Amino acid sequence: MLALASLLAALATSAVAETVHGVVVFTRHGDRTTRMFPGYHLTNLGANQAYNSGSFYRQRYVDDEATSRIANISADLVNYNQIWASAPNQGLLFQTAVNFLQGLYPPLDSQLATETLNNGTQYTAPLDGYQFILVQGQPATSPDTIWIKGDDNCPRHIAAQRSYMNSSQYKDIFNATSGFYSRFDDLLEPILGQGEVTYKNAYEIFDLMNVASIHNQSLASNISNSDLTQLRYLADQWEWNYNFNASQTDRMMGGRTLAGGILQRMNETVSRRAQSNKFQLLSGSYDTFLMFFGLANLTTASDDFYGLPGYASTMAFELFTESGTAAAPAAFPAADSVNDTLRVRFLFRNGTDAGTPLVSFPLFGSSESTLPYGTFVERMRSFAVTSSGQWCQACDATAVFCPSTDQASSSPSGSSGSHRLSNAAAGGIGAGVTLAVVAILAGLLFFVLRKKATPTSSAVVSVLPEKRVSESDSA
Ligand SMILES: *[C@@H]1O[C@H](CO)[C@@H](O)[C@H](O)[C@H]1NC(C)=O
Ligand SMILES: *[C@@H]1O[C@H](CO)[C@@H](O)[C@H](O)[C@H]1NC(C)=O
Ligand SMILES: *[C@@H]1O[C@H](CO)[C@@H](O)[C@H](O)[C@H]1NC(C)=O
Ligand SMILES: *[C@@H]1O[C@H](CO)[C@@H](O)[C@H](O)[C@H]1NC(C)=O
Ligand SMILES: *[C@@H]1O[C@H](CO)[C@@H](O)[C@H](O)[C@H]1NC(C)=O
Repeated sequence: MLALASLLAALATSAVAETVHGVVVFTRHGDRTTRMFPGYHLTNLGANQAYNSGSFYRQRYVDDEATSRIANISADLVNYNQIWASAPNQGLLFQTAVNFLQGLYPPLDSQLATETLNNGTQYTAPLDGYQFILVQGQPATSPDTIWIKGDDNCPRHIAAQRSYMNSSQYKDIFNATSGFYSRFDDLLEPILGQGEVTYKNAYEIFDLMNVASIHNQSLASNISNSDLTQLRYLADQWEWNYNFNASQTDRMMGGRTLAGGILQRMNETVSRRAQSNKFQLLSGSYDTFLMFFGLANLTTASDDFYGLPGYASTMAFELFTESGTAAAPAAFPAADSVNDTLRVRFLFRNGTDAGTPLVSFPLFGSSESTLPYGTFVERMRSFAVTSSGQWCQACDATAVFCPSTDQASSSPSGSSGSHRLSNAAAGGIGAGVTLAVVAILAGLLFFVLRKKATPTSSAVVSVLPEKRVSESDSA
C-alpha cells in the first residue's frame, strides 16, 4: 500500500517536472456592441472579460505562485523585454489587448515600482501605479498586418470564401432554413433589408440577436433560448464553411498567416534562448480561430472546434522542457538539441466565465497532447505563410507593401485579365500568340459578363455577402 502510494506520488512529481520557457497567446475580443452598426466597440463587460483573461494567464504563468510559471519571468513589475503584444490598429482588438495586459500586470503601487529622485521625492506611476505595456498596433499598410489579418485585402481568399455560396451544401441549408429565418423578418428586415433575413446572413443575424439578448432589455424578452441556440448553430455552420474547406487553401489565408505569425513569435523566444519574449500576445478575430482550428486538425480532437469561440476566448502555445519545476526552472536547451528537447503544448480556453478551464488538445490529428518543437515547426510550415512576399503572391494582392508585378496591374480597373496574361507570356508563349489570346479572352469575358449581368444583376448582387460595416473587421 505504502509502496504504491509513494510510487504514485513519485509519478505525480515526475509528471510535473516541467519548465515553461515561453508562451504565445492569441485572443478574441470581449463582448461588444453589434458590428452591424458603425462605431461598434468593446463594452465594459467586454473590457472586463479581457482583463479577467489577463488575470487568468497571470495566475498560470506570471505570478510568484503561478502553477506553470514561465522561467525567470518578472512576477510583479513588468520587464519590457519579456512581454510583447500586437493588435490591428483598430479600437476593438487593440483595446482587448490593452485590457488583457492590464490583468497580466496589474497596477503596482509598492516599493518595487517606486522611483526616488535625487531630492528624495518618490514617485509611482499615475492611476495607482498603472503599468504601461506597449502594444504594436498594425495598420493595414504595414507588411506585419498579415500575421493577424492575413484574410483582409486578399482577393483570392475572398473569392474562395464566397465560392461557399455556390456549394450544394450552402443551397440546401439556405432552403431548409428559410422558414425558420422568416420568423425574424419583422425584427431584422429594418436592419438587414428586405429578403436578407436568411442563412446568407447567418452570422449577422446571430450577432444582432445575441447582442440584443445581452444588452437590449426590450428585445431580450422576445428572444427565446432555443431560437438563440438554433441561430448560433446556423452561424457556426456558416462561419465554419466560410472559413474552412480542406480543398481550398486560399479560404484559410488568415489561419495560414496566423500560423506564420506564431512561428515568427516562437522563433523570437527560441533564438534568444528565452532571455526575452517570454509572454507574447496577439489579438484577433473569431474567423482566424476557425481557420486555424481546421488547418491544425483540432476538429479531430473535438467536434467543439466547429463552433464559434466565445468572447475573449484564447488559444495558447506553450514552449516547455520536461525537466525542472516552476520554483527551480531548468535551463533553456542547447541550440543543437532545441528541436527535440523543447516541446509545444496547445491549449484553448473558451470564453472567460469563472471556472472555465484552459484545456490542452493534440494538434494535427495526433493523439499526443504535446510535440517536439522541431516537429511542430515542420507541421505548421506545411500550411503557414511565412513572409509578406509569399502572402502578396498567394493573394494576388495589391497592398502598398506588395511589389507591383507589371504596369498593367497598376491600372485601376479591368487589369486582372491582362495581368494574368502577362504571366502566361512569361511562361514562354510568343508575343503574337499572347495578343491573339488577349483578344479572344477579352471578347469571351465581355460576352460572359454581359450574359450574367444583364438579366440577373440583382440576383448576382444578392449572392455576395453584404459588405460588413467594415470588411476588415470580421471580429
Ligand atoms: C523634487 O524634484 C522634482 C523634480 O524636479 C520636483 O517636482 C519636486 O517638487 C522636488 N521635491 C522637493 C521636495 O523639492
Ligand atoms: C470546397 O471546395 C471544393 C473545391 O473547390 C468545392 O467543390 C466545394 O463545393 C467546397 N465546399 C464548400 C462547402 O464550400
Ligand atoms: C433595442 O431594440 C429596439 C428595437 O429594435 C431599438 O429600437 C432600441 O434602440 C434598442 N436599444 C438599444 C439600447 O440598443
Ligand atoms: C465554445 O463555446 C461555444 C458556445 O458554447 C461552442 O459552440 C463551441 O463549440 C465551443 N468551442 C470549443 C472548442 O469548446
Ligand atoms: C488534417 O487535416 C487535413 C486538412 O483538412 C487533412 O487532409 C488531413 O487528413 C488531416 N489529418 C489528420 C491526421 O487528421
